[in-house]
Formats: sequence, C-alpha cells, structure tokens
Amino acid sequence: MKLKLPKLLIKKSSEGKDKDVIDSVVDVEPVKPIVSPERLRLSVVRGDAKLLETYALYEPWAYAYITEDLATGTVNYVVYEIGLTPQEESVYKNIVDYIMWELEPPKIPIEDVREYISRFARRAIRLFQLRLGRTPGLSWSKIGYYIERNIIGYGPIDPLMRDPNIEDISCNGPGIPVYVWHRRYEYLPTSVVFRTSQELDEFVVKLAHLAGKHISVAYPVLDAIIPGGHRVAATFQKEISTKGSTFTIRKFKEDPITIVDLVNYGTISPEIAAYFWLAMDFKMTTLILGVTGAGKTSTLNALANLLRPTYKIVTIEDTPELRLPQENWVQLTGRPSYLVSGVSEIKLYDLVKISLRYRPDVVIVGEVRGEEAYVLFQAIATGHSGITTLHAEDIDAAVKRLTSPPMNIPNTYIPLVNMALVIKRVTKLDETGRPRPVRRVTNIWEIEDYGKYKELASWDPVRDRFKVNLKESLIVERVARMKGLDIGEVIEDIIKRKSIIDYLVATGRRSYKEIATYVYNYYHKPSEVLKEIGFKEG
Ligand SMILES: Nc1ncnc2c1ncn2[C@@H]1O[C@H](COP(=O)(O)OP(=O)(O)OP(=O)(O)O)[C@@H](O)[C@H]1O
Ligand SMILES: [Mg+2]
Repeated sequence: MKLKLPKLLIKKSSEGKDKDVIDSVVDVEPVKPIVSPERLRLSVVRGDAKLLETYALYEPWAYAYITEDLATGTVNYVVYEIGLTPQEESVYKNIVDYIMWELEPPKIPIEDVREYISRFARRAIRLFQLRLGRTPGLSWSKIGYYIERNIIGYGPIDPLMRDPNIEDISCNGPGIPVYVWHRRYEYLPTSVVFRTSQELDEFVVKLAHLAGKHISVAYPVLDAIIPGGHRVAATFQKEISTKGSTFTIRKFKEDPITIVDLVNYGTISPEIAAYFWLAMDFKMTTLILGVTGAGKTSTLNALANLLRPTYKIVTIEDTPELRLPQENWVQLTGRPSYLVSGVSEIKLYDLVKISLRYRPDVVIVGEVRGEEAYVLFQAIATGHSGITTLHAEDIDAAVKRLTSPPMNIPNTYIPLVNMALVIKRVTKLDETGRPRPVRRVTNIWEIEDYGKYKELASWDPVRDRFKVNLKESLIVERVARMKGLDIGEVIEDIIKRKSIIDYLVATGRRSYKEIATYVYNYYHKPSEVLKEIGFKEG
C-alpha cells in the first residue's frame, strides 16, 4: 500500500509571504498520541491521581483531562487525542508527502492561504480514498483530523488552542512541559512537550511565518499576531533564552470581553461601568493599571466600546488587540525594525505624533512604556481625551513609573489624568470550596493633583462587593460644572446609564454589537431606550 513518493520540499517558484506560509506548514512533526489513555486511566484507577474534570476539545478526537497528583497535589492538564493505528499512520504519512510534493504556491496572491492549503489537503485525502479503494478498519476522518491539526493547525498545541478555558500557552524550552493559564486553575503544566530543540525551533519559525514575520539567529525575537488574532512572543534558539527557543501565545477571544461580561464575571459593578461611560463621554482621561495578564487590555476594550459613536477614535498599539464597534475609528500599529535594509522601525512614539493629525477626540494607546507617554500627555494637554494601560500595581507605582525614565512625565502633567483603575487577579472560593482565580477592579482613584489621589471606589474582598462614592466624586462635580447642572442631575445621568447596563446584563445582551446599539440609541433616542428598559424617572 505504501506509495513511493520522493521526499521533496515545496517548489520554490514564487516569492513572498504566501510561499513562507506554505514552507512553514509543511514542516510536519510525526503523529503520536500525547498520552496514552491507558496510562491516564491506570493512574486514576490505581489511585495515584484524581480526575478533577474532563471535557471535549474537538469531538471525537481530542479531550482535556484535568488531574490532581495525590502525592504532590500538582494539578496537570492532560491532552488525550485518539491515536492513529500503524496502517492509518502510514496512509497519513503518504498523504502528507503527497501534499508536500504537489502543493504549489498560488499563482495569484490570495486572501486566505490557509484555506487554500486546506482545500488542497481535502482534495488529497479524497484522491487517496479513491486510490486505495476499500480500507476496512481505517478511519479517514481520523487521518483528516491529524492532517488538519499538523498542516493547517498548530500541531501539538492545536488541542490547547481549541480550549476556550485557556488564556495563555507558553513553552519555556525543549523537554519542559508546555504550560497553560487555565480560567479555573491558573497555571498548569500540560502533557504537551516539545522533545527536541529542533522540533521547538521549527515550531517557532512556523509561528513567525504564520504571522508573516521573521525569526532567526540574526533577529531572535518575535512579537506578532498570528491568524485568528492571537498574540505571540517568541525567542529563537539559545541566542537570548538560555534553555533554547521559547514562545508564549496570548489567545485572542473571537468574541471580545464586553462590559456586560465584566459585570457578569463580577470584575466591575454596573455603577462603575456607568461612571466610566459618563466620564469618557466628557473626555476624561483614564489610566488602566495592572500586572501582566491582569486584564488591562480587555478592560480598556470593554470601556472603549462605550465611547460616543460620533467620536473620532485613534488607537495605537504594538500588536492589534483592540476591537471596537465604532466606525470612526483608526487603528494604528507599530512596526518593528528588521535587519533588512529599507525597512525602518515605526514606534508608538511616531504613531502618537501622527495620530494628532487625524483630529481625534480620543487617543487610545494600548500600553505606555516609553517616550510615547510624553506625546500622549501633550495630546491630552491640548484637549484630546486619552485612555491607556500601564504596567503598575497601584496609583503610586504608576505615577512613579510615569515620572521616571524613560517616560519622564513632569509632575505637573500628572493631573491631566483624571481617573485610574487597577485590575487584579484574585482568588475566590467556588461552591465546592476550591480556590478559583477571578478578576476584580480593586480600586478606582480620581486624580486631583500630583500626590493627591481620591479613592472613588474600592472592592471589599470579604463581601465581594464594590463600594462607590459618587456623591463626592471630583469627576461628577467637574461634569456638573461643565454642563451647568447640579450634582444630583449628573448622578441621575449615571443612574440612567447604569439601568441600561443592568438591562443588557439581565436580558443576556452581551455581544459588543448589541451593546453598541444601546449606546448609540442612548445618544440618539434616549427617551425611547429608557422606555424600552422600563426606566422610571426620579
Ligand atoms: N475580567 C476578566 N475576567 C475573566 N477573564 C479575563 C478578564 N479580563 C481579561 N481576561 C482574560 O485574561 C487574559 C489576559 O487579558 P488581557 O490581555 O486583557 O490582559 P493584560 O493585562 O492586557 O495583559 P498584558 O499585560 O499581557 O498586556 C485574556 O485571555 C482575557 O480573555
Ligand atoms: Mg495588554
């Protein structure tokens, strides 16, 4: 049955990104079930491990088993995939060889190279089916799964990419388990391991090619977005990471976290959401603080979704993570410098400068780290509104960072920021008494002056509640002054907005498009919306 096909690399006739993608996807690693189901079952039956939960990742091929090692208490994430029989493996290898041999780069540039390859792979499988005729005991769909996983998918980490509970996937070197950050268990070692440095190097190169970028000994770092919007950072070989190549993938949620999700998760309260909605409407500037992976970008995105639809918004990021429903939105992203002549680096600093030419109402910088902060503050000083995130644990640490090199913001500029919130990962016990990680906006400050910060709200860890003091809010007072209203009237506006958010939460309207409709209607036909949600004046 074994077809003799010469092992040949893809024909290198066309240049450019498409060819790179094709080159990279044909580096196929061998197929092995990552952990045998017997071993897993035995350890559970023997009583060495306890099965905490199991769920399908891709039915009927891949499953997650979360186990606790009873001796050490370590929780493990075991990927179980249905393995191929020797006969299926041989057919699989022949099909892969065939694809490598026959797949040609597209003649004309195409939108979706992966779809192009996928179509070719499906044709190849059909061709082999016809050629081999009756094949009792052989599962073509299983072979199809492995072809999809290794050629178009993410190879050994493909099952992890399919798990919506996983936020981050990281590999710290060859021979070390791949770690994931799981919504319910935090960091977990998995049964996925890149066994050799070559396997891992090839995988990192594949990631770079998928992003249309480059990683090599000469340029051993990668910060990019791969198809599907996932953010990848990687290093190559031992150039800068002592154990060998590394990567970390922050998985992109197809469906962004919205303000309704944040309320449902208990991250913020509807009242706090309404307060920011009003404040941003009056062009107040917000700083979102937190440590790595705390949820800063998600909070920024959810809040920015509430911006007035007529505002001109310019966002500036290193890698495009933000997703807004507003049409009057320009999304700018930086470009790293490659060691290729003629390609110059475009920094966030350059982008913030250019953004002002777009006459924005709001400038959003994904994260400030360097000299771009100074230009952003100048933009705010000249009447633009700004929203940005900063890696800091609280307001004091944030101001210290802002006023020190390389940001060097003068102390007198600090009150240009009106509000700061900090988001944290904290632990909460679930119904079974097990600690679960959750996110909470633990503090909100209003900035009066350098060194003078007033706490508007804080989170009470014992009762898992937010304490908000709108009556003494500087922002409420300021908005009242700007609009010639009294404080009670501004608070009434916040209450109306809160009622809309409550309504969206209660009716399960959580998508960013649905939220956008209500935000839009609140400006265009407020009385109709308030009637729809059953808001009672007074
Ligand atoms: N409030 C939340 N509740 C549950 N999950 C959240 C919440 N906020 C963010 N996440 C998830 O946490 C992960 C990290 O979120 P995000 O990218 O917003 O963090 P970040 O602080 O911006 O990280 P970084 O420091 O790497 O930029 C994402 O997978 C996101 O889906
Ligand atoms: Mg971020």
